[in-house]
Amino acid sequence: MAETTAKATLSIHGKTVELPVYSPKVGPDGVDIRKLYAEAGVFTYDPGFTSTASCESTITYIDGDAGVLLYRGYSIDELAEKSHFLEVCYLLLYGELPNAEQLEDFELRVTRHTMLHEQMQGFFRGFRRDAHPMAVMVGVVGAMSAFYHDSTDISDPWQREVAAIRMIAKMPTIAAWAYKYSIGQPFVYPRNDLDYPSNFLRMCFAVPAEDYEVNPILARAMDRIMTLHADHEQNASTSTVRLAGSSGANPFACISAGIACLWGPAHGGANQACLEMLREIGTVDRIPEFIKRAKDKDDPFRLMGFGHRVYKNFDPRAKVMKESADEVLGLLGVEDNETLQVAKELERIALEDEYFVSKKLYPNVDFYSGIILEAMGFPTSMFTPIFALSRTVGWISQWKEMIADPNQKIGRPRQLYIGAPQRPYVEVEHR
Ligand code: SDX
Repeated sequence: MAETTAKATLSIHGKTVELPVYSPKVGPDGVDIRKLYAEAGVFTYDPGFTSTASCESTITYIDGDAGVLLYRGYSIDELAEKSHFLEVCYLLLYGELPNAEQLEDFELRVTRHTMLHEQMQGFFRGFRRDAHPMAVMVGVVGAMSAFYHDSTDISDPWQREVAAIRMIAKMPTIAAWAYKYSIGQPFVYPRNDLDYPSNFLRMCFAVPAEDYEVNPILARAMDRIMTLHADHEQNASTSTVRLAGSSGANPFACISAGIACLWGPAHGGANQACLEMLREIGTVDRIPEFIKRAKDKDDPFRLMGFGHRVYKNFDPRAKVMKESADEVLGLLGVEDNETLQVAKELERIALEDEYFVSKKLYPNVDFYSGIILEAMGFPTSMFTPIFALSRTVGWISQWKEMIADPNQKIGRPRQLYIGAPQRPYVEVEHR
């Protein structure tokens, strides 16, 4: 628990309430308003929760002004460069970097859970071929509740642990099979001799008639993309997972809810929307037209991949992603990729424009990721599923933390009611 370091006094409607102030390890202090309604009869009002801490957490910390992202205290830049995704999964789940033996055991446990129950293939086949892979993932992950009954009892720590390993292990298989189904190719099973990102790439791109030799550079780039997307404090989809979990729903149902929330273009769907925007811009000379639209209050168009609720500086993930885009496209011999050139010029122009500078709008994690994924051979519809499979470890780590939090209770926000006061029913003949 953050320590109480001061008191805040609120005087309203003739009442004065003293509220404890907590000081966390880093970041802003928090005013504990839990007794506000009981003692003063008023609510706080904070649509979008821009000034509200929903929980205490030890997992991830973002300094939005400095553009810093820490997983369990380690900076995302160091982890992206020196670590790898499954090691980051261990760190997020258990709080410390594993020693060699712990890492080997964890990787073996994940590897041994990558297969799906064979009967689950029926769920994929129930969708239309042109279903968005995110729709398939929401459905299939939710259906896991109906298959893995030995890891749905949230009161059993061992079942929580198994559910976490299963989710991390099976998401690449589910995402790959959603992709294969959408292009009419047979499902490719995971292989235990491949590392996590290589297994995913092979399940996406191998066919029975010809195997897929994983390019280690692409595997490393995919691994880095997964690390960059692994967790991000109490973002919309993580808050969805926590809220669903607060009712006691099983972990598969909670992750399914998180996938549904991530799908939105203002959140994880922005990587797909961003690449589609870059394609619509098409050439560098059309950038001013779109910058003008992004600034026009009467035009709903926004620069996808720009702006962030918390970062008011560069998203550190975007920096790493940009470097990775240069590296991957260079190695693939497509460094003159028009989309990448448009992205770089759009970033340059926007960052010199008063509108973006004054509103502190910088490229976020979604601005460059799609360019790399497209170069790897993924359709835009697979961008958000890859975000979802990467974020699963964050969701499940936050879910586990919430379940173990003695302060947690079912989430139930209040409202400011501005609708009709009570009124008598009127029969239809008198209306
Ligand atoms: C992710 O929360 C997380 O951590 C999310 C995430 C994660 O890892 O989980 O980081 C992943 O979701 C990244 C964000 C991806 N979304 C996009 O790239 C979509 C485009 N971005 C915007 O929709 C917007 O920036 C948000 C949704 C990301 C943030 O919106 P906020 O914090 O609610 O800010 P806002 O909408 O109140 O905007 C503040 C001002 C507004 O202008 P004013 O009303 O003050 O005049 O900035 C403007 C907005 O109109 N603005 C933009 C803009 N983003 C904000 N104008 C043009 N283009 C944009 N992209």
